[in-house]
Amino acid sequence: MVRLNKVAKGISGSVLAKVEYFNPGNSTKDRMALKMIEDAEKAGLLKPGGTIIEGTSGNTGMGLALTAVAKGYKCIFTMADKQSQEKINILRAVGAEVIVCPTNVEPDDPRSYYSVARKLNKEIPNSIYPNQYDNPSNAKAHFETTGPEIWNQTAGKITHYVATVGTGGSMCGTARYLKQQNPELIAVGIDTYGSVFKKYKETGIFDKNEIYPYLTEGFGEDILPQNVNFEVIDQFIKVTDKDGAIAARRLAREEGLFVGWSSGSALHGALEYAKDNLKKDDVMVILLPDHGTRYLNKVYNDMWMKDHGFLEERAYGTAREIIARRNGKDSLLTVTKSSTIGEAIRIMNQEGVDQMPVVEGSEFVGSVTTAALVEKIIHDPTIKNKAVAEIMDKPMQVVALDSTLDVLSSMLNKSNKALLVRDEQENAHIITQHDILKAMTM
Ligand SMILES: Cc1ncc(COP(=O)(O)O)c(C=O)c1O
Repeated sequence: MVRLNKVAKGISGSVLAKVEYFNPGNSTKDRMALKMIEDAEKAGLLKPGGTIIEGTSGNTGMGLALTAVAKGYKCIFTMADKQSQEKINILRAVGAEVIVCPTNVEPDDPRSYYSVARKLNKEIPNSIYPNQYDNPSNAKAHFETTGPEIWNQTAGKITHYVATVGTGGSMCGTARYLKQQNPELIAVGIDTYGSVFKKYKETGIFDKNEIYPYLTEGFGEDILPQNVNFEVIDQFIKVTDKDGAIAARRLAREEGLFVGWSSGSALHGALEYAKDNLKKDDVMVILLPDHGTRYLNKVYNDMWMKDHGFLEERAYGTAREIIARRNGKDSLLTVTKSSTIGEAIRIMNQEGVDQMPVVEGSEFVGSVTTAALVEKIIHDPTIKNKAVAEIMDKPMQVVALDSTLDVLSSMLNKSNKALLVRDEQENAHIITQHDILKAMTM
């Protein structure tokens, strides 16, 4: 446990970091990897000479591979292709076979790293698929080790626990233990833009519109793992790729803690929470999941940071700036699912817009564009009186307020004609190709 001095300046209360790179595989995942294997052995599921197959972003693989070396098992890991090459090399170095799968496919797509792991488990005799997402041994490892360590290291004074949420093990196992000791403890989960957790916690809705590719590794999900126990997490904060990367570099340079990207995300979210909520006697502990060596080609590479617009002054600005320039004169035009197609066309004509979200209550459930409507009317002129719900396209994606223009423009394509952004007051705004072009030529 390390006290954060410089990065937490100006915050009331104590801010401490639980630095997980001191584990033998340099990440928090060693704890649950060992536990999953030992529990599988105890249950008779893993026998001598067996094979361990897992979908992993690297750190769980490392923990499993080290355990497998010690105990004489084979390892095969499936990994999404957005992961650092370093992580893949490290796993191969400790004897594991690594299969790289595409990131941008649905979890139930046969090519996804979840599906490939399941398939191999079925095909290879004497193999186990620990499935870190749903395996209770994951959260249990943190309940039995991380939680008690933090409790003892703070002499029971911890009042706030902050951790990124991927499989949910390190947040929920630890928080469940800490809340047993002190039911008043507040657990803040860190989520990322592009992931479903925050919205699910706040509304109970699993909203596919929240899902889009993001760069940060290890946390945020497009599924609801069983290890995420939403009851023990009091609230979620979303952090952008950029804010996480910059905060990780601050931990290295200002605190001497050479940590991974998600550690930066945890710090950024924790400070955002702390500045408004932490009081003088409060003690906040932030879990820093892994070590910086795994991100040498990304967060700790200045060229890579510049290429992603994370270092230099923003050349063209962000969604936030596009919206600010509208000076509040941009109330979002919408139609409801039951509006007629004729009505949608009339609004778009009158207001001179090419696309609109379709809403049902406060939810975005679809979208319409003039191009698609014209095409449909040419085929069938009678559809004007039909409900928009019958012909609408998929909903527009919701992106982070601080998304840079290069990120926004990379997300606009043939099937995504416009994006939605929520401001701090949760009001939604639309961003179109036209907005981006205008911002770039200002
Ligand atoms: C770098 C990194 N950060 C954060 C997490 C999230 O931890 P958990 O799966 O316990 O929610 C992981 C898990 O893979 C990780 O590898």
